[in-house]
Amino acid sequence: MNLLLIGPPGAGKGTQAVRLRDRLGIAHLSAGDMLREEVRLATPLGRAAQVTMERGELVPDDLVGKMVEGRLELPECSPGFVLDGYPRNLAQADRLARYLGGKGRRLDRVLVIQVPTEELLGRLTGRRVCGGCGAGYHVRHQPPRAEGTCDRCGGSLLQRKDDGEGVVRGRLQVYESQTRPLLEHYRGSGLLREIDGLGTLDEVTGRIAGALEEAGG
Ligand code: AP5
Repeated sequence: MNLLLIGPPGAGKGTQAVRLRDRLGIAHLSAGDMLREEVRLATPLGRAAQVTMERGELVPDDLVGKMVEGRLELPECSPGFVLDGYPRNLAQADRLARYLGGKGRRLDRVLVIQVPTEELLGRLTGRRVCGGCGAGYHVRHQPPRAEGTCDRCGGSLLQRKDDGEGVVRGRLQVYESQTRPLLEHYRGSGLLREIDGLGTLDEVTGRIAGALEEAGG
């Protein structure tokens, strides 16, 4: 099954994508995680993207498109994939459609996770990420067993540089102006399902499972 997860920063895309990966046995491709890895490794792409990401703006389409397509070529994506954070504007959506069409593949479902802005701010400023394995936590909603330490690998939990309140507000504006138009785009194709992202992680997971049942997942 080939899925897209769309939603504003903090909607829970990454959290739910990991659950979909584990339940459906498909690959999880997070554009943000891939870019952060490029920054960490100080590759040419990482160096080109770092400042833009820290400002909460979008990295140029061509750079992100090539990066995602490179991953989609890998055998791990043969059973299917959940794309989290790509596409983020209409040009990226068109590019993805052309790429998949050229490979004889298609999207099965586009899920948009909807969460009110006030809730998003609390989620993002409270988010912590493991510096070792990248696992995600929240200081209140999804705390680790030992404060500041990853349950999975024992690594230290850090706050992302773009999770400060000022940058978060800018990221929300970018979502409204550049990403929200994708909803109409995919609604027109009949692939879109809207998911209420408020509630516990399990409640949201259950709603997503319901939306996928008719798509065969
Ligand atoms: P990216 O990393 O993709 O950031 P984002 O889209 O802003 O999304 P987030 O990772 O902030 O949120 P999420 O929806 O995954 O929420 P999460 O599950 O973590 O992108 C970062 C940057 O990279 C961009 O700003 C841009 O610069 C660049 N970039 C990325 N893709 C690009 C593209 N296609 N083109 C150009 N540039 C691109 O949850 C958030 C928190 O809430 C967590 O702490 C979690 O525990 C908690 N939480 C989750 N669900 C719930 C719940 N139901 N109840 C309570 N808490 C919850």
